[in-house]
Formats: sequence, C-alpha cells, structure tokens
Amino acid sequence: MELKIALLKGDGIGPEIVDSAVAVLEKTAEKFGHKFTFNPYLIGGCAIDETGLPLPQETVDGCLASDSVILGAVGGPKWDDQPGDNRPEKALLGIRSAMGLFTNLRPAKLYPALRGASPLKDEIVGDGFDIMIVRELTGGIYFGDRGYREGKYGQEAFDTEAYSVTEIERIGKVAFEAAMKRSKRLCSVDKANVLESSRLWRKTMHELSEQYPEVEYRDMFVDNAAMQLVRDPRQFDVIVTSNMFGDILSDEASQITGSIGMLASASLGASKRGLYEPIHGSAPDIAGKNLANPIATILSGAMMLRYSFGLIKEAETIENAVDKVLEAGLRTADLMGTDKGEPLSCTEMTEAILKVI
Ligand code: IPM
Ligand code: MG
Repeated sequence: MELKIALLKGDGIGPEIVDSAVAVLEKTAEKFGHKFTFNPYLIGGCAIDETGLPLPQETVDGCLASDSVILGAVGGPKWDDQPGDNRPEKALLGIRSAMGLFTNLRPAKLYPALRGASPLKDEIVGDGFDIMIVRELTGGIYFGDRGYREGKYGQEAFDTEAYSVTEIERIGKVAFEAAMKRSKRLCSVDKANVLESSRLWRKTMHELSEQYPEVEYRDMFVDNAAMQLVRDPRQFDVIVTSNMFGDILSDEASQITGSIGMLASASLGASKRGLYEPIHGSAPDIAGKNLANPIATILSGAMMLRYSFGLIKEAETIENAVDKVLEAGLRTADLMGTDKGEPLSCTEMTEAILKVI
C-alpha cells in the first residue's frame, strides 16, 4: 500500500514521540512492503510562533489531502497568555472539527506486565481489564456557545452544552457496533439527573438500544462512573459518553492502567481518514529531555494501520512488539511504579520496539 500521512508534531514532547511513531511505522512498512510518505505541518504553539495562528489553513488543507494524520501534542506555558480563541488547544478542536472526526476511540487496557504500575489493588484489578471509551468529539460544551455577559453577580463567563439527536445517534451507533465486536456490553454515561442535554442523550441511546437487542445496555451517571472505574473497572467493556465526560473519564481510565503514557486514541469520522494521537498532553516539564514514553503514540500508529487502512497484521506486529518489550521488563520513567532499576529514554524504548519488529 502507498499511503500519505500528515504529521502534526506540535509542542513539548510532541516532536520526540511522533519521531518514534514514524520510525516504527517506517520499519513496519519496510517489513510488509508498503510505502508511507510523511508530510509535517505546524499545529499548536509552534504554529503560533511561526504564523501567528495555532491552526494555519495550510495544515488543515494538508490533513485533508492526506490518507491519515498522526498528532503528537499541543500547548505549553509559553502560550498560556494567548486569548482563548488563539490558544494551542483551540487548534486541536479546530482540526477535529475540520476533519469531521466525531468519534474518539480511547482503549484503556491493563498490560499484565504493568500490573505493578497501576495504583489499584490486586483484588480490584484481578486478571486485568480492557475498556473501550467511545467519546463524542465534535459536539457538546467544547463547541457550544460561549462568551461573557452580565449576570446576577456582575460579569460572568458561560459555556453551553448542547447535543442534537443526530449527534447522539451517530456516536451511539459507533458504540453499539463496537460493543457487538467485543463482549457486547455497553454503558452510556451521562448526567441525566441534572442536565437536559443528558436526558435527550439517554432517551436517544435507549431508542437506539432497541436496534441492538444482543447488546447488554445500561446507563450510568458520570459521578458514579468515575467512582466505579476505580472500584471495579472489570464491570466495563464499552463506555459511550459526551465530549467533556469522555475527556475526564479517559484520563482516569488511563491512570488505572499504570500510566497515561500508554494510551492511544483514534479520532474518526464518516471517511477512512482519521487522526491518531496519544491521549496525554505535551508534558512541557520533560520536553526535549528524551524522557517521554513514546508507546501511546506508537500504539496510535498501530490504530491508524488497523482502523484507517485495514492493515491488521501490521498493527498486530506493532502491538506485539510493545507487549514483548514490556514483558521483558523494559520501562520508561513513567512506567517504573514499584519497579527498581534504570528507566529507558524515549529513543531507547523506540529502539527496543524496532528491534522486535
Ligand atoms: C484530550 C485533551 C484535549 C481535550 C485538550 C488538550 C484540548 O485533553 O485530547 O483529551 O480536552 O480534548
Ligand atoms: Mg484530555
């Protein structure tokens, strides 16, 4: 296969971890006889520095002209004073929206080898868990009306959560289909005891569930879901939820797997073209120090091969290589947990994975 992949390295550790993913993808392409070309575009703080804008039009055009996109991370203290609509993070929302990526798949799986890095007790983790969070990505409070106005106590700021039946149905379908391919259990997370938008969310999901009689469906309030994730994560298979609840719960789910440095994500829309990124941020504190864990980005590359291009064997080769290095006891600093010894650098971890491939 010949594929054109856009690279949005971004800020902080973004460039280091994207370089690792590219090295792994190139090695995999070589092994299986594919040709991947990589084209870098600016996004986030580095784009502000060069062009004044966090998401230059050239970047949007470049992504839309590619077969898929790999993104590192954006943001950092340097750009904290930018006005809200010119912040690096705004670029992330902009590119998700410009590419129509309404689905965000965030798998949170506990690797047996990383058992010691999870903060949960053995009796809670048992033989491990494997959760797929399906997060709505182009609606809700992230994209609703916002601004300033005169309120009861003087000037106030507001953001709006709004969801249409169409938006709920399309993410719901993705989640039910995902559940059908897994263990056929789906939990929809909302705040229907308080929010009108959540009541519509719940009603729409219930109606949809009638089309999937084989899926064991239930709903849960988000506060309870946050608690259940640490009380008994094994009860979950697929979770579907709104943009903001998904943002929060996926960070929580990642931490119980041992490290946020392990979690990949796929953002998908109506076409095969997706955007693949680690769920963690730009980690400015360790940027440029070769300390970052590249695994989440490497696994995002594997997700790209699987979801956008149907290259299953290739994706499995990368995933198996990650399994192997973890089983061999290799760790970056974030994965050390209670383990003793010297952690690997970002490039050393990448080299170790390349060697297995
Ligand atoms: C994520 C991040 C982003 C989000 C931020 C950086 C805008 O936290 O991808 O989870 O909230 O979506
Ligand atoms: Mg987040």
